[in-house]
Amino acid sequence: MSTPHIEADPGAFADTVLLPGDPLRAAYIAERFFSEAECVNTVRNMLGFTGRFRGQRISVMGTGMGIPSCLIYATELVQHYGVRRLLRIGTCGGVAEGLALGDLVLALGACTDSAVNRQRFAGLDFAATASWPLLARIAAEAAAQHCRLKVGNVFSSDLFYATDPDATVRMRRMGVLAVEMEAAGLYGLAAERGVEAAALLSVSDLLPDGASMSAEQRRAGLDRMVELALSAIIE
Ligand code: HPA
Repeated sequence: MSTPHIEADPGAFADTVLLPGDPLRAAYIAERFFSEAECVNTVRNMLGFTGRFRGQRISVMGTGMGIPSCLIYATELVQHYGVRRLLRIGTCGGVAEGLALGDLVLALGACTDSAVNRQRFAGLDFAATASWPLLARIAAEAAAQHCRLKVGNVFSSDLFYATDPDATVRMRRMGVLAVEMEAAGLYGLAAERGVEAAALLSVSDLLPDGASMSAEQRRAGLDRMVELALSAIIE
């Protein structure tokens, strides 16, 4: 049973899938954190792996960048492979005052300039929110680990290279913490399909044009974020 974008056997994915944008990050996470890791998808090099963490089955798969790419993979995972929990693991541009590089942001809600949720919701404004049980587990684990974590709204943009000079000021005024490119789409899909979703993000740059992280800082940030995510979702 393959899908147009995933060639894997039925049951190849665990109930919970971590979703980084970069497929090489998926490979890194599987190798570094999973035992018995097995590669379950290579179509378009969008690598997917299933293995175990603390004895429990878990998967990780790249999604590519942006809502359309992310939703192709997330929809097929839910619809064809029975996945029930989608946890995006990614980076974001920090918008809120006081955010520092490497801080973690947990997307309680996601504003967007994408039309995907209006398409799902007859043109109305859908409040794209994370699933509370998943969100609560991650927030509780962060508190237990004394990890700097901000929980709130993000903005999922279709444009990485946005040009509106007022955007950052407007978002800050409305309490938006950070900008990324997938959460709002993932949350709409999860709502429609009755599954859980959340997005945990590491601040990789500061907007409008502040500092950004080196590759090594990004990797260290990723390790901390994955450790937090895995401890939170595995009982
Ligand atoms: N914009 C959108 N997505 C991002 C950014 C950004 O500045 N940084 C990391 N992901």
